[in-house]
Amino acid sequence: MHPDDQTPAAPTPANGPSRRTFLKQTGGLLGVALAPPIASQAEAIAEKMAPASPILSGQTNVSLNINGQAKNLRLEPRTTLLDALRENLDLTGTKKGCDHGQCGACTVLVDGRRVNACLTLAVMAQGKQITTIEGLAKGDELHPMQEAFLKHDGFQCGYCTPGQIMSGVACVKEGHATTDDQAREWMSGNLCRCGAYPNILAAVREVAAQQAKG
Ligand code: FES
Ligand code: FES
Repeated sequence: MHPDDQTPAAPTPANGPSRRTFLKQTGGLLGVALAPPIASQAEAIAEKMAPASPILSGQTNVSLNINGQAKNLRLEPRTTLLDALRENLDLTGTKKGCDHGQCGACTVLVDGRRVNACLTLAVMAQGKQITTIEGLAKGDELHPMQEAFLKHDGFQCGYCTPGQIMSGVACVKEGHATTDDQAREWMSGNLCRCGAYPNILAAVREVAAQQAKG
């Protein structure tokens, strides 16, 4: 250093630890302090991510109560109720339209409430009473909603019909078909792409009127 140079000297170990020394020291300390917990956390996460049971990664036993009958199946947990009905139980009355919860063709009743079977996992329907279009009639005696659809010709291609009938049954039971507007609103999740809609509405309204009379 030039004798005239007035620049203050950098700190030396003699007048305090340099920044680099400080970082080295603390880094080393932190490394020692944190290494074991990080390792054990990683192990814990890996344990959590491992399948809890081999059953979750393959087929599993599923017991469904459909139209009053117990049905035991082996299904992938991701199987929808709609696919279980159509593919595994041959109950093809329930239709697959959009398969995305937008058309209502797959409507069934679960514990009396209408659901889109395409959005319901079969495993989630266990322990509940599932009713499909096949379960509405009592032997040869049609359900009043089925009679009304026939009387009013509430179908053209017929593809939406089972879902409309199931939805109509629940809609009337809920007391949501007391006016045309109300019935349209509460049946709006069931789309008909033909010209049958006025007839479907007439059928639903007729059954609602019958039940109001008792
Ligand atoms: S098939 Fe389920 S709503 Fe369309
Ligand atoms: S009768 Fe054809 S879609 Fe409804």
